[in-house]
Amino acid sequence: MTIAWNPQTREWHLHNGATSWVLAVLENGWIGQLHAGAPLSPDASYRHLYPPFAGFDNRMPEPVPLAVPVPGVGDFRVPGLVVETRDGATVLDLQYATHRILRGKPALPATTGVRGPMPATYAEHEADADTLEIDCTDARSRITVTLRWTLFAARPVVARSMTIANEGAPVTIRTAMSATLDLPDGAWTMLQLSGVWARERHLVERPLAPGRVAVSSVRGGSGPEHNPFIALRRPTTTEGAGEAWGVMLAWSGNFLAEAEVEPFGTARVRIGENPETFAWRLEHDGVFTTPEALVAWSDRGLGGMSDALHAVLRRNMARGPWRDAERPVLLNNWEGTYFDFDHDRLVAMAAEAKAMGIELFVLDDGWFGARSDDHRGLGDWTVNRTKLRRGLAGLGEEIHAMGLQFGIWIEPEMVNADSDLFRERPDWAIGVPGRRRTAQRHQLVLDLAIPEVVDHLFDVISAALDEAKVDYVKWDWNRFITEPWTPAVPPERQGEFFHRYVYGLYDLYERLVTRFPGVLWESCASGGARFDAGLLAWAPQAWTSDDTDAVERLRIQYGTSLAYPVSSMGAHVSDIPNHQTGRTPSLDFRAAVAMFGTFGYELDPTRLTGEERAAVQRQVAFFTERRALISGGRFDRLRSPFEGDGNETAWMVTAADGARALAAFYRVLFRPLPVRDRLRLRGLDPAARYEITRWTSFDGPDLRFIRGGDDLMRIGIGIEPADGEIVEGDFPDGMRLVRHDFTFRLYDIRRVTA
Ligand code: GLA
Repeated sequence: MTIAWNPQTREWHLHNGATSWVLAVLENGWIGQLHAGAPLSPDASYRHLYPPFAGFDNRMPEPVPLAVPVPGVGDFRVPGLVVETRDGATVLDLQYATHRILRGKPALPATTGVRGPMPATYAEHEADADTLEIDCTDARSRITVTLRWTLFAARPVVARSMTIANEGAPVTIRTAMSATLDLPDGAWTMLQLSGVWARERHLVERPLAPGRVAVSSVRGGSGPEHNPFIALRRPTTTEGAGEAWGVMLAWSGNFLAEAEVEPFGTARVRIGENPETFAWRLEHDGVFTTPEALVAWSDRGLGGMSDALHAVLRRNMARGPWRDAERPVLLNNWEGTYFDFDHDRLVAMAAEAKAMGIELFVLDDGWFGARSDDHRGLGDWTVNRTKLRRGLAGLGEEIHAMGLQFGIWIEPEMVNADSDLFRERPDWAIGVPGRRRTAQRHQLVLDLAIPEVVDHLFDVISAALDEAKVDYVKWDWNRFITEPWTPAVPPERQGEFFHRYVYGLYDLYERLVTRFPGVLWESCASGGARFDAGLLAWAPQAWTSDDTDAVERLRIQYGTSLAYPVSSMGAHVSDIPNHQTGRTPSLDFRAAVAMFGTFGYELDPTRLTGEERAAVQRQVAFFTERRALISGGRFDRLRSPFEGDGNETAWMVTAADGARALAAFYRVLFRPLPVRDRLRLRGLDPAARYEITRWTSFDGPDLRFIRGGDDLMRIGIGIEPADGEIVEGDFPDGMRLVRHDFTFRLYDIRRVTA
């Protein structure tokens, strides 16, 4: 058990050797958070860190770290919980009542009056995690708040959530953060993943300063502008060393992630559902549970923080048979055909894909209703027989007969005004009665807060999936929510709308995933506009961005990797000139970037030349031989495209047993007479020896040499000019000067056993 309770000092200590969290019942009965982060001895008391605390009074205001800060009681920092009680006040006095220390991780209590589960991490075996639940009660309102910490075995990651139960008169929850984290100083730099369509999750940094810095969404989804994730690092922290925090929300709706530095220099971090678009009426006997937050701490740099989060998302958030299975290399027809396809064209594409070693054929948008373009058809999930003369079943049959898996695209949450569904049920589209609706991409959003809508979608999508016998589904979401309002709750409860919508989404996912347990789900939202830990509970991979340009992808995938594992990032090789940027990198460069994701192609293979087909075949073979390493290994960022002139990027993956690794170095533009440069690797055994083969195309390695782990990590591999002790083969030209843009080097690394 990694959680200890000391009844003498009234302290809890969560510790697993990698991190410690120390909580205490303060002198006034509130719960304090004495320490979080670095591992400490579990036998000592840490009460000396703060003077006895009787509540905020007229003395020097001591910024006491609180586990659940509420407003209006002398703590003037941002609150974690704001509840309006019967008298209209938001003052609570949350007194410690009891606690439970549990092995494993219990399911989160369901919120009253919504269907479907909240996405949350789980412990497969009791030994994988321990959980502390502390109940605090406000006697006057008869509200009990349960604070929850789950510590994962051997990982410096804690899952946080809070449940509010009401035994008194109805109250309104105005703010309910999933986690607050009080830190003893504010000397941190905040990292956020920000952008827009086609350049999602770029790394942005800003130092904390007195006051508040925040990222948030009010779009109804987690959004492309900011990801529900922030990291903090010391100014001296690097990828490999130093302290870092990562704070992430498993929620696909509006969120707030914020850090505040108060006058004495301490910092409070909070993350949760965005209070700007949220208010929840909690009736007598009602229960409300917040989404879950994951909080990671590492003293092994940003790399250590990312690795901890990746591990928990892969093992404890993703579920089902695809959690651990190797994901198929796919061909998606979208950029190859857009809406212009028919049965025969698809079959021809699939046949070429199969010949190149591709394993899954995905039919994207346009197969249903009157969907000849993006003005019509959404909502009508019956097959378009003009395009698909043999229906989905016939197409699926032919694809399966080739030995390929078959997948389809859906966008269940949407409707076009020009659709049978909208003509029948205009009242199912979100909007405020009597006001005009804002259309985006010519479509409206269905009101998933209405259970009947979710039931309908479950039926029609199930029927389509049954017909097609699909192995894979890409679930898209191509606009944000405007004119938020739902007939599902009365006018005074419209603050619940966004939360109820996301619950409807989760309900639909849960029911479809349960009904089709073998299917591989990939989430998508105009590219990467809903890339969050919440959806990873059902869809273990997500389309990272509609921007398939390999150069843009270096930044997008690098940024995304700060929080999310390679196994979650959909990445495809597409045609040139690239449809988003007009760039023309080589086919091999495009593949070398897309391989560090759930790999696939998105082009018309019947238009490739014979030479290109052979190249694709080699790329697929190279990837599939290393697939388990790439998607399951530890990911280390070696060189950032957000630093310097951004011309170079490098990263590597290392197998858990250390026997194999693959490092990648990318240079966007050729520079004459480049400076001497060495790429230092990470995570190898300094005492071991490694055989390295270098690949600058997928035609085969062009250099082979043996080096010690210490040499590779402390001196590094010479990039320009290449150094290398050629030990076999006839690789004549280590010094070959490559005079063109878009070059890469892959270093395939194997520990030498003899
Ligand atoms: C979105 C997705 C694309 C594609 C189109 C289809 O933009 O991100 O990958 O599926 O929709 O309309």
